[in-house]
Amino acid sequence: MIIPGLASQAVAASLATETGRDLMPVTRRQFPDGERLVELEADPGTAPIIVASTVSSAAHMDLLLLQDAAREAGATELTTVIPYLGYARQDTDFADGQPVSVRAIARAIAPGTDRVLTVNPHETDVLEYFDVPSRAVSVAGELAEALSADLLDPVFLGPDEGARALAHHVRDAYGRGTADHLEKTRHSDRAVEIAPSDTAVADRDVVLVDDIISTGGTMCEAANVLDDRGANELIVTCVHPMLAEDAYVRLRREGVRAIYGTDTIERTVSVVSAAPAIAESLESS
Ligand code: R5P
Repeated sequence: MIIPGLASQAVAASLATETGRDLMPVTRRQFPDGERLVELEADPGTAPIIVASTVSSAAHMDLLLLQDAAREAGATELTTVIPYLGYARQDTDFADGQPVSVRAIARAIAPGTDRVLTVNPHETDVLEYFDVPSRAVSVAGELAEALSADLLDPVFLGPDEGARALAHHVRDAYGRGTADHLEKTRHSDRAVEIAPSDTAVADRDVVLVDDIISTGGTMCEAANVLDDRGANELIVTCVHPMLAEDAYVRLRREGVRAIYGTDTIERTVSVVSAAPAIAESLESS
């Protein structure tokens, strides 16, 4: 049985189809004081799979409640799939007095499950914070499925060195073009500076690839630099399309022709499903 989390209805349904499992109906309500309640409307069996991206505090709390409900209903082999692991970017204390937020999140989730599977976490090292077997699957290559087959002499660029491997994966999956990365300096939550690489982009279609678009600041700055250097069409892809606030509009105003992401976070740009890769990883474990 697949148990869908609050913010993961579509990816859970796709995973149910991929794995031939049933999809659990869940009712939810909120008490007047804001506390939440979930109710599983069918027998989860002994080995259910919860699919829950922790995109918000509500979604995170929903996951913890689903885990407990599944245990109460008799689950002895519970798998928790977290397509998007929130707080993963705070994987160290960047200043005195700060938490290692993703460690706190992992410590809350791990006791309620027998194993964890997530998709393209910001750094795979964060898996060490789960005190149960955990693994990550990459769906970067699948992003190529969204791209038009006739891109003009394409170049695949990560906006920073951390996204270099993702850009190469998408290029390899697409089957032609070059891959490289830009240099990013972050000045604040929203302000970044991007330095161009030596890669020639003039009159070429550029596919920017990152793990997540949050405020869109990184991709907007990259788009701006690439436009100045004469890039033809700009296409932006990411695994986790958070697209906080007006990120989508800001990217389009920056001249980005198309934005594609996966359903680890369910947005209008989520045209690629992570479910097949998750299913394959589950079947092989
Ligand atoms: C940071 O290293 C990440 O890979 C992303 O580049 C970053 O988190 C994107 O954030 P934003 O969209 O707010 O610039």
